[in-house]
Amino acid sequence: MYQIRRATMSDTNLMYNLINKYADEGKLLHRTLNSIYENLQCFYIAESNGEVIGTVSLHILDKELAEVRSLTVSSNHFGMGIGSELVKVVVDETKKLGVKTLLSLTYQVEFFNKCGFKSIEKSSLPMPKIWRDCLHCSKYSNCDEIAMVIDVF
Ligand SMILES: CC(C)(COP(=O)(O)OP(=O)(O)OC[C@H]1O[C@@H](n2cnc3c(N)ncnc32)[C@H](O)[C@@H]1OP(=O)(O)O)[C@@H](O)C(=O)NCCC(=O)NCCS
Repeated sequence: MYQIRRATMSDTNLMYNLINKYADEGKLLHRTLNSIYENLQCFYIAESNGEVIGTVSLHILDKELAEVRSLTVSSNHFGMGIGSELVKVVVDETKKLGVKTLLSLTYQVEFFNKCGFKSIEKSSLPMPKIWRDCLHCSKYSNCDEIAMVIDVF
């Protein structure tokens, strides 16, 4: 059994470990502990028996566009629906906030397709806002992530 809830400060070390384990594998961007602290109110976690088994954050980019960031599920909990439930939580939050479109920059195309996202050309996105957080990524100059979006209303 697990529950999805907003993250709190006591979750941050476990969140950091989970996110950066996948970041080391090149699957998403690294987060510093400080960036997790500063954006704590944007994070939800999945928790089971006091352990953080999933993370997701919602980052607003402009009036009509928000981004799913730092989506993780611990590997021994893959395939249980936790990832898609974390995405649903941020889709619902995006809708509540009145932001029309949710973006993911990802390699997990099939997973996001199943969550209702569609691939789009990166050139149609407001690049400066998106790339600001990519400046420290080793793939910056030749990013091969796929841009996928869902309109939430
Ligand atoms: C991507 C990730 C979050 C998926 O989490 P999950 O909890 O295993 O996903 P779910 O169980 O909710 O899967 C939902 C559906 O997507 C499918 N799916 C999940 N991961 C998949 C993958 N890598 N490739 C193809 N299909 C996938 C599942 O089979 C399931 O399909 P179904 O509804 O037909 O049964 C998880 O694999 C992960 O943390 N990966 C490493 C970090 C990462 O890549 N994060 C994404 C950054 S954008």
